[in-house]
Amino acid sequence: MVSISRRDLLRGLGAAFGALFAGRAGSTTASAQEASSPGTFRFVHLTDIHVQPELKAAEGMAACLRHVAQLDPAPDFILTGGDLVMDALEQDVQRTTLLFELFTQVLRDNTSLPVHHCLGNHDVFGWGKKHGVTAETPRYGKKMFCEVFGYEKTYYTFDHKGWRFFVLDSVQPSDKLLYEGGLDPEQWEWLEEQLQKKPANMPGVIVSHIPFVTVTVLPDAVQDYQFRIGAASLCKGAQKVSLLISQHNVRLALSGHIHMVDEVEYRGVKYVCDGAVSGRWWKGANKGFPEGYGVFDLSPDGTVKYQYVTYGWQAVQT
Ligand SMILES: [Fe+2]
Repeated sequence: MVSISRRDLLRGLGAAFGALFAGRAGSTTASAQEASSPGTFRFVHLTDIHVQPELKAAEGMAACLRHVAQLDPAPDFILTGGDLVMDALEQDVQRTTLLFELFTQVLRDNTSLPVHHCLGNHDVFGWGKKHGVTAETPRYGKKMFCEVFGYEKTYYTFDHKGWRFFVLDSVQPSDKLLYEGGLDPEQWEWLEEQLQKKPANMPGVIVSHIPFVTVTVLPDAVQDYQFRIGAASLCKGAQKVSLLISQHNVRLALSGHIHMVDEVEYRGVKYVCDGAVSGRWWKGANKGFPEGYGVFDLSPDGTVKYQYVTYGWQAVQT
């Protein structure tokens, strides 16, 4: 059980922001600990945590991290899949700061594993322009995420035991919606360049919050004799990215966002849409998919084994 009072959290808000989140919050710096020698290894993917003071979400997140700590074999690192908090997109600076502090505190208190973070739509501060937030508000937009976790950009690569991971930022501004799925032009260029730089025999993983390819959205999509899927549900440019990664020995394309689970083989790449740590936003299973996380076992020959693991959380409200 974690015990974090609202007062404890609010106390921190008066302190300098940089001091609150100095360094890479809540984790050991991943790159410092990673082995470069190839070998089979395990990592876990914790996506859509949506931590908040309500619904015992912090206790749920802590329970999940404790479950991860019991895994045998132990994972080498944690990869988060975005939507770390609930919610920065339409909240004021105080609430957003409190949420990120809660997230980093629970992480710090319940795991010693290295952690790599991926940005989700709910982690972008203030795009909803509510509660007086404007583009001039400090740490507006994606700056909040970068400052909290000490990243220069919202997309980056890292290597682990002979594999290269490409962590992408799939959350883009939209004329009609609060956000939409896809990559901005600069990131497309960066991804193409990075894939070219990767040695051809080195297997790769791409990680995005919003999926490129998934069947999870199809069963609810048929309307008026055609399938309709919102631009906030899937990434634009999926065909282009699927062709690109299939030519560069990428073996796994990992996402979250939908709070449902599937595994799709397309152009020789395994696409996994992973289930949510929060289930239905801490109100039980989402359409039958319980609270859980992904366990991945990767081999030097490029083989990927995936299992979705539940951690026994009982929602306080359904
Ligand atoms: Fe989510």
